[in-house]
Formats: sequence, C-alpha cells, structure tokens
Amino acid sequence: MRILHMTDVHFLMPPPIKGMIGKRALGMANLYLAGRKSHFDAASLVTMAVADALQWDADLFVFTGDLTALALDKEFVQAREAFAPLLNGMPSIVIPGNHDTYTKGATRAARMDHHMGPWMAGGAWDEAARCWAGAHELVGAVDWPVSFRLGSTTVVATNPCRPGLRATGRFGAEAIARAEALVAEARGRGDQVLYLLHYPPLAKDGEPYNRSGHSLEDVDELLASLRRQPPSLVLHGHKHEAWRVELKADSGAGVPIVNCGTTSAVSAKPTRTAGYFIFELEQGELRSVRRRMLLAGAADFVDDPGDYG
Ligand SMILES: [Fe+2]
Ligand SMILES: [Fe+2]
Repeated sequence: MRILHMTDVHFLMPPPIKGMIGKRALGMANLYLAGRKSHFDAASLVTMAVADALQWDADLFVFTGDLTALALDKEFVQAREAFAPLLNGMPSIVIPGNHDTYTKGATRAARMDHHMGPWMAGGAWDEAARCWAGAHELVGAVDWPVSFRLGSTTVVATNPCRPGLRATGRFGAEAIARAEALVAEARGRGDQVLYLLHYPPLAKDGEPYNRSGHSLEDVDELLASLRRQPPSLVLHGHKHEAWRVELKADSGAGVPIVNCGTTSAVSAKPTRTAGYFIFELEQGELRSVRRRMLLAGAADFVDDPGDYG
C-alpha cells in the first residue's frame, strides 16, 4: 500500500469587507500582519506538488487538514480544483483542520463537508464506481470519527477541530472511544490501520504536544487510547514542520507518528518548506518513508535528504 500524504496548504482568498468581522478579522490580521501570507503560496506550490506526486502511482491519498485559511467557499473551490488530479485519480481521504472550521458559521453550514464530502464521509472503496460507497449519500455534516476500508487497510479519520478564538482542539471522551473501537474492529479482522488527525499527538522531542492555545486539550486521553489500541501508522499536520516520532504502545510495539508539516510554505529550511510524504505500509509495517520538498528558490520538488526512515 503506497500512501501519499499532504497537509496544511491554507488556500487564502481575502474575504469581502463585510466578512471581516469577529474571528475572521483576527485571522486576517494574523496572516497579513505577521507576514504569514508571504510565506505561503498554495496556488503555485500545490499544483507543483500534485504534479510531482502523480509519478509515484500511489494507492491512496490522504490530506490532514487546513485546506483553507479562512474557511471561505472560494478557498474550498480553489483547493478542490488544485487537488482534483489526486482526488479523482485514486482513493482519497480528507479531514478538516482548525482553519477549515474557522468560524461558527462555517461549521454550522458544514461548508467543508459540502465541498469535500465525497472524500470525508467514510465507506468501503468501490473499484467499479471509483468512489467510497455511501459517501455520495452525505447530507449535512460528517459524524466523526469515520472509517474507510480499502482492501486490507482501514483508515480511521477523526476531527477534533472546534470553532473558537483559539487554535485548540478537543476530541471528547466519546469520540476517542469511538475511534478506538474502529481501530480495534479493524485490527480484529486483520487489517493494517492508518489513523488520521489534524493535531500532533507528540511534539518533535517525543513528548505530548500540549503547546498552550495550539494543541489538543485532551491529548493525554488520546495518547492513552493510541497506546491501548495502536494503529499501524498515525499521520497529522497543524504544526508546520515535518517530523517523525514514535509512540510506545502498551504492548511494547512502536507506533510511527509523522507530521507532514505543510505542502505550501516557502522556506529555506527543509523541515519547514513545502513537502509531502510517500509511505509504503505493508502488513502493518512501515517499510519505507520518502519526503519530497521544494526549497525556496528551487525549480522542482526533490528528495529530502533528512532522516525519516
Ligand atoms: Fe495549518
Ligand atoms: Fe491547524
């Protein structure tokens, strides 16, 4: 199973003035005044990353949130168009980030679900119809967590993002338990299990990621769940820096956790510039990890010589 992983591209379309209220105004201020806009170039870099990624003939494409900057319809439309060659070319799964559920309005309107529903609602892959069976029936918002089945691989897709002034997330005990049950069920039938979330479970030093105002409020409960019922591989984004760490399960097994960082930033630092991953996951074992990246000023994506293996 060859898996493509991208994340945190933050398509940004400035909203009309009447949209500049409340949290969105604060977000715009952050993006512009802190200079973040100049460091992200989703329109150019996603197109290049997608073109580069098509060469790997992957079996599955996953995206771990923050498609947009402000959860605007126009941003979702732009993102969907840019990712279309992957979304329409292979089984694909997309989960929200905190920027995609940015305002209460976006969440109430299930805006991301409206644009990206065919890749968010779970189901079993229907090879003849080239879609996740059942996903087209989505009406309204996805009831997270959900699972996707593709051959002997199960993907547990979660969404702990909440609208609000802070960039924090929270699963809640029920969602953690339901996700854990989906992992247990998949392992029970002998599947390898991929677990997707937007927030980092662990920081790059291997400690729980609990940076105030930016992390999961119930990260300790999540980690306990992952230790009890370990997936084969955990993928996430949110913190715009690529890293790989390992969680020790209660059984003693090591669970690789990979942060894809961002696929649209412009930086001279390899871990912080636009990149994406290609994983080979076979029989629950992560056999190989490759990262492609585009450094500021470079013309093409190339292999990242960093050690993620
Ligand atoms: Fe992000
Ligand atoms: Fe985020």
